[in-house]
Amino acid sequence: MYRATVCAPLLACATALVSACGDPPPTLGDLASRRGLLVGAAVQSQWLATEPDYAAAAAAEFHSLTPENAFKWMATEPSHGTFTWDEADAVADFAVAHHRTLRGHTLVWANSYSAQLFAILPDYVAQAPDAATMQGYLDEHIAAVVTRYADVTDRWDVVNEPLSTADATVDANVLTDTLGEAWMVRAFEQAHALDPEARLYVNEALIDGPGPRHDALMALVARLRAAGAPIHGVGLQSHFLFGAPPSADLESVMRDWGSVGLEVAITELDLPALDGDLDVQASAYRSVFESCLAVDACSEITLWGITDRHTWLDGFLGRPARPLLFDADMQRKPAYDAVAAALRGR
Ligand code: XIL
Repeated sequence: MYRATVCAPLLACATALVSACGDPPPTLGDLASRRGLLVGAAVQSQWLATEPDYAAAAAAEFHSLTPENAFKWMATEPSHGTFTWDEADAVADFAVAHHRTLRGHTLVWANSYSAQLFAILPDYVAQAPDAATMQGYLDEHIAAVVTRYADVTDRWDVVNEPLSTADATVDANVLTDTLGEAWMVRAFEQAHALDPEARLYVNEALIDGPGPRHDALMALVARLRAAGAPIHGVGLQSHFLFGAPPSADLESVMRDWGSVGLEVAITELDLPALDGDLDVQASAYRSVFESCLAVDACSEITLWGITDRHTWLDGFLGRPARPLLFDADMQRKPAYDAVAAALRGR
């Protein structure tokens, strides 16, 4: 359906006369494959099910999909022992049907700032009567999700936002306060034992340039690895609310991760066009893709959505953000063309 819109003026395209349109243009995934880059997008099952143009774009344009919320603890086991797999199964089924992989986002998200904004951790976890019970909940949760989706998931965001959002310290949240950093080591060990082929990530916000937060995350990752955590990569969320960072800054932190043997993924890219200037937005997108292409360690760019019709930023910012590559009518924006140009190398 999505490709048919490319040839909309020629009804013949919907029939056997496909050749009347020539070959469809390459998708972002096609272009990225030629550069050895993985491109992905976050999706929600409700729109995959009800919006054919959304589903078609998800299937056509990207190598990999990220369940925007469906894998999160609140979605899969909101109360202890009650598993709710419908949304996660729907995303996984879609990926399998379209021969796509999943980025498993996210096994554990306990950040104390994010917890004020969103329901990210079920109450029973926070209210565990003692450390052993809390660790048991973590073990059960990770085992349940990884076991169920290992076949379709080739990367996991094992730990999301371990740093405090306000500064460069390890976040003091209910898990870390009770269990120390050891819960993170154990989460990586467990995910690796259950899905040995998968690449395992720490995913973090606001680490897209040099500075104390980047240093703090490098130090934390070094400690976790020294304690035995099998970590393969670091995810830069890259919600660029105020525009893209300078390329030199982004490339510098990516190279730092590469220098310690880790891969880097941009995992949640979105770039609002709050002033309405779609050309400024397009060049910012282009710069982010060119930075990733310039650094060996950068293996992936995943967008936090597909279309401006559905973006978490409208709620987060309280006004239309228009941060993605397709507009609300699922038409390609200048940002799409800029990304395609970056991937083409011209
Ligand atoms: C967001 C989703 O997009 C929203 O739909 C949900 O209400 C809250 O979570 N960093 C992350 C993502 O790691 O999981 C968040 O996703 C956005 C910020």
